[in-house]
Amino acid sequence: MLKVLLNVFLLVLFSFLLPTESPAFKQIDWASINPSLKSAIPVNDTTECLDCHDDYIESFEKTKHAKAYRAIFGWSTPASCEACHGPLSNHLKEKDLDKKLDSVVSFKNISPEAKNSICMQCHEKGQSRNWMGSTHESAGVSCTNCHYVMTKRSKSKLFIKGDSIKVCFQCHRDKRAKMERASHMPLREGKMSCTGCHNPHGSFGPNLLQKATVNETCSDCHQDKRGPMLWEHAPVRENCSTCHDPHGSNFQSMLKRKPPYLCQQCHMDSFHPSSVYDGTQINAREAEIVGKSCINCHSMIHGSNHPSGARFQR
Ligand code: HEC
Ligand code: HEC
Ligand code: HEC
Ligand code: HEC
Ligand code: HEC
Ligand code: HEC
Ligand code: HEC
Ligand code: HEC
Ligand code: HEC
Ligand code: HEC
Repeated sequence: MLKVLLNVFLLVLFSFLLPTESPAFKQIDWASINPSLKSAIPVNDTTECLDCHDDYIESFEKTKHAKAYRAIFGWSTPASCEACHGPLSNHLKEKDLDKKLDSVVSFKNISPEAKNSICMQCHEKGQSRNWMGSTHESAGVSCTNCHYVMTKRSKSKLFIKGDSIKVCFQCHRDKRAKMERASHMPLREGKMSCTGCHNPHGSFGPNLLQKATVNETCSDCHQDKRGPMLWEHAPVRENCSTCHDPHGSNFQSMLKRKPPYLCQQCHMDSFHPSSVYDGTQINAREAEIVGKSCINCHSMIHGSNHPSGARFQR
């Protein structure tokens, strides 16, 4: 009886201690990924692997995981390969080199879901917490489309390509073309990356945006445009990307169209009041020909805090 109680006590104690002592580490059913691992047990030692995989063991040693795993699994097991490739006792026992591949979890022949679940053993929190159901997850993209964990290929974050923007351009070629346009966010210049606005691991907002709306995302850096203002310009409050293409454009300030045409999607020039300068009506051609597009006069186009700024002129 006492023994049972003690066991219960220890169990409860451990369930409190474990999560705080070691990082969350979810158990995974390896046999469901590769049935031939059913009877396999962990080897917990890489010395026997060296004969055949010294190259990978060496390169893995230089990655952040190798260091992190020392803390998780202890010094006695350098480069714990089995955290991602499953228990490998059967792999060691297998003598036929041609059959070796069957006795491990190889990322060459498993589904995106299986790949992701292996990484999610430890990465359910942090940036990836909204991964499940995200656009990338649903589209069959996996962690290993963007990260390469066996060798250090980037300065940080274990990217599959040298930097995070190149990672995105693998698939989003149209965005690369847009970033080449005259007016663009300073990505090419290395001042920001796609992740300034997007979280590729999933988000609460639309379009994998970092924040819940487009405007909240932009206001993170462009605080002067946030408002509230005394005089609001309705479309600005609604959505910055009504007028701007965040991925780049050939018009100034990444505008989707050139003023006055941009403005004339919503405003008709025919009813424009006489100009304070020349007493004539302002029409599109004039405004453009003399270089006076609408914003020369309506310069506070994002809204105004001036008592008489109702027309966004000051
Ligand atoms: C006697 C040589 C030998 C030993 C020892 C050995 N392996 Fe292998 N391993 C192989 C061969 C051969 C393959 C199949 C490679 C292929 O077909 O691409 C393989 C495949 C693998 C793969 C899958 C690679 C892929 O292409 O996805 C992993 C991971 C792996 N081994 C890890 C280990 C680990 C960890 C150990 C030590 C516990 C180990 N191996 C011990 C020979 C060996
Ligand atoms: C953090 C998870 C993780 C750990 C730990 C890990 N691997 Fe891998 N390994 C992978 C992934 C993912 C791939 C597939 C690479 C790709 O194509 O993206 C891979 C691929 C391989 C390959 C095939 C080569 C290739 O590029 O496809 C070998 C061999 C291999 N691993 C051996 C090892 C050995 C040996 C260890 C221990 C030193 C180890 N792995 C530890 C995740 C891991
Ligand atoms: C056994 C637990 C575990 C598994 C499995 C695991 N990781 Fe990690 N990973 C970690 C830890 C711990 C860190 C270090 C976190 C830190 O230092 O902030 C880390 C760091 C990273 C980093 C950041 C590296 C950096 O330079 O900042 C990336 C990217 C990453 N892991 C991707 C993956 C991918 C992709 C997989 C699946 C192939 C994977 N991890 C599997 C535990 C794990
Ligand atoms: C579409 C590409 C893409 C996919 C898919 C992806 N990542 Fe990432 N990951 C990135 C980028 C880009 C960063 C750098 C983010 C930053 O700089 O804020 C990153 C950063 C990380 C980091 C470091 C976070 C930190 O706070 O330092 C970890 C850990 C990570 N990813 C794990 C994962 C895991 C696990 C998966 C799969 C569930 C995954 N990633 C899928 C692109 C991706
Ligand atoms: C392996 C290919 C691949 C890579 C690499 C990739 N993506 Fe994607 N991405 C997709 C697919 C597939 C979709 C689904 C929509 C589609 O078909 O375009 C998508 C959709 C998106 C969307 C739209 C989301 C939505 O809900 O509308 C954004 C934003 C995005 N990706 C950003 C990124 C960023 C940022 C990176 C780099 C960190 C990246 N992607 C890297 C394949 C990829
Ligand atoms: C300045 C912020 C910002 C940056 C930087 C940014 N995006 Fe976007 N992205 C957005 C917004 C906002 C949307 C929502 C659609 C819209 O309103 O035009 C979006 C939509 C998308 C979409 C889905 C809709 C579409 O147009 O296909 C993809 C894919 C995408 N972005 C990929 C990328 C990639 C890849 C990068 C890096 C090269 C990147 N984005 C950089 C703000 C940004
Ligand atoms: C992570 C910070 C960040 C976020 C988020 C951000 N921007 Fe920017 N934006 C910048 C920086 C930095 C510049 C360059 C400023 C400079 O060089 O003076 C810039 C420049 C611009 C420019 C001027 C471009 C030019 O050619 O003159 C526009 C327009 C712009 N951003 C719109 C947006 C919109 C719209 C969003 C939301 C979809 C957004 N930004 C989100 C940092 C950001
Ligand atoms: C009604 C159309 C419209 C909307 C909506 C709009 N803008 Fe603009 N934006 C413009 C115009 C026109 C310019 C060019 C102003 C100039 O050259 O004087 C501009 C210029 C900019 C610039 C570069 C010059 C500067 O003032 O810093 C930034 C940054 C910017 N907008 C951010 C934003 C943000 C953030 C939002 C959403 C909160 C937004 N814009 C919504 C029309 C718009
Ligand atoms: C997406 C539609 C849209 C675009 C594009 C747009 N506006 Fe507006 N604008 C509005 C709306 C809606 C109002 C509010 C009208 C109201 O309150 O009667 C407004 C108000 C104004 C006002 C104040 C007039 C008033 O009656 O209070 C001015 C001035 C103005 N816009 C100028 C511009 C200029 C200049 C541009 C181009 C840089 C532009 N707008 C682009 C929709 C737009
Ligand atoms: C030469 C300067 C100038 C230019 C260029 C100009 N505007 Fe105006 N606009 C004004 C003045 C001044 C008023 C205010 C008249 C008033 O308060 O009665 C005004 C008022 C407006 C109003 C409010 C009209 C109303 O009924 O209250 C709108 C909308 C507007 N402008 C849009 C535009 C658009 C769109 C363009 C470009 C096609 C443009 N403006 C170009 C000077 C200009």
